[in-house]
Amino acid sequence: MEVVILPDAEAVGKEAARKIAVLIRRKPNCVLGLATGSTPIPCYRELIRMHKEEGLDFSKVTTFNLDEYYPIDPRHHQSYRYFMDENLFNHINIDKARTFVPYGLAPDPYEHCIWYEEQIKKAGGIDLQILGIGHNGHIAFNEPGSSLASRTRVKTLTRETIEANARFFERPEDVPRYAITMGIGTILEAREILLLATSEGKADAVAKAIEGPVTSMCPASALQLHPHVTFILDEAAASKLERKDYYKYVHEMSESLKRQIREKLANQI
Ligand code: F6R
Repeated sequence: MEVVILPDAEAVGKEAARKIAVLIRRKPNCVLGLATGSTPIPCYRELIRMHKEEGLDFSKVTTFNLDEYYPIDPRHHQSYRYFMDENLFNHINIDKARTFVPYGLAPDPYEHCIWYEEQIKKAGGIDLQILGIGHNGHIAFNEPGSSLASRTRVKTLTRETIEANARFFERPEDVPRYAITMGIGTILEAREILLLATSEGKADAVAKAIEGPVTSMCPASALQLHPHVTFILDEAAASKLERKDYYKYVHEMSESLKRQIREKLANQI
């Protein structure tokens, strides 16, 4: 597990976008796993800039989003499909047919979950998964107590989540009661994972996820079991890590080693 600590949310977004761009240039038909929420917005903004100014080409990229409310019309302004279109897909040259978000109006959401998992497999699996983290350590809609082996499934939202979301909907009865979400087991199958966290509000969850025990009570702690995870944090989100200085030291040392190797190889040519 790598921990990268950067000054602010903008830098976190840029670093995540840089890693995504490296992958797209190396593997133009790569499969990305994407998240909604406020944390990845600077990353999506930077990807849009890279597309417009540097010609980053998304034409062969496939994406799978982590989750979606159920039921919800994809055209609803609070749907995650709408969020992705507005914040990324409408501004890059991606083929919308290759952008998968769980369908909020699926006639049978249980069947849809099985179908969604099949589509991920058919696409060859997820190369790089972007995650945010909830204040309680949730990833996607996997709240504390979710099985670490869980797959894409229908979840009943907690009363707290429904109440917190009520402000985004016209009437309280419009708030969806369910969500379709990738499971923790599904997420752990991605080849590489980047978890982004910014702001002090995330500091407790981040510390538990990285330095606490692996437990379903902090779903993000399951990432400790994955062979290729990077936590990209701003200073505030990293503020409660006990070994913060050590992570910074390790990151500086490995960057310096990579630079030395690049220079050596360049001199050999
Ligand atoms: C969104 C998602 C959620 C968020 C998390 C953090 O697709 O899966 O788990 O990543 O709730 O949300 P923000 O980034 O808004 O703090």
